[in-house]
Amino acid sequence: MTYAIVPAGGLGARMGSRRPKQYLRLRSVPILVATLRALAGARSLDGIVVAVPSAHVEATRRLLARRRVPKILDVVAGGADRQESVWRALLRIPEDARSIVVHDAVRPFITAALVERVLAAAAGGAATCGVPVRETVKRVREGAVEATVEREGLWLTQTPQAFSRALLWEAHDKARRDGFAGTDDAVLVERLGTTVAMVPGLAHNLKITTPEDLRTARAWARSRRRA
Ligand code: C5P
Repeated sequence: MTYAIVPAGGLGARMGSRRPKQYLRLRSVPILVATLRALAGARSLDGIVVAVPSAHVEATRRLLARRRVPKILDVVAGGADRQESVWRALLRIPEDARSIVVHDAVRPFITAALVERVLAAAAGGAATCGVPVRETVKRVREGAVEATVEREGLWLTQTPQAFSRALLWEAHDKARRDGFAGTDDAVLVERLGTTVAMVPGLAHNLKITTPEDLRTARAWARSRRRA
């Protein structure tokens, strides 16, 4: 069986709104609902576990039931950072899991085809999606350029990412024992020395983090509805 974990436990400090960003609206539904509906459209996925801020667990359960979001197995309390939220959701994944997809709650523009592509690339191991860096990358310190980073081979990483259950478990377990904090799940697998496949993501797989991102996302959603 194949399950998905959706970390949605952030408090959205960079959004500057009182409500966490995953509950702000896009296409008349909360971003979290839009993301979960898109994810649930992937035929390979049998169920989804969502991690939300602990104060929002009950309200999110009611929200997802009211909006009839399919394939939801459980809503759990997230942790202090993204990695801890994924770990807590991982503890609730059913025993019969073979593969697990991890997808950020704040990336609502994914497609079922992308989920399937990443799962196929993982092929029992690990895979992520991303896009090659097109701009010139510079490291900046105190307002001045320190270095220009060779762009060749650099990719911006997105989610969904897919893993065998055993690998994701081992990767998180080792990171916890080592006190290592990563900003995605693939890096925890990389630390095991295991290869992570990279497949093309989507240019419009926006991660909604700032108010400007939210304005962009709403404009895209409007233009799609008209299309
Ligand atoms: O803020 P960040 O870039 O880490 O957010 C990526 C995803 O991780 C978001 O969907 C956010 O809700 C989630 N997250 C989480 N638990 C946290 C912090 C972030 O599940 N404590």
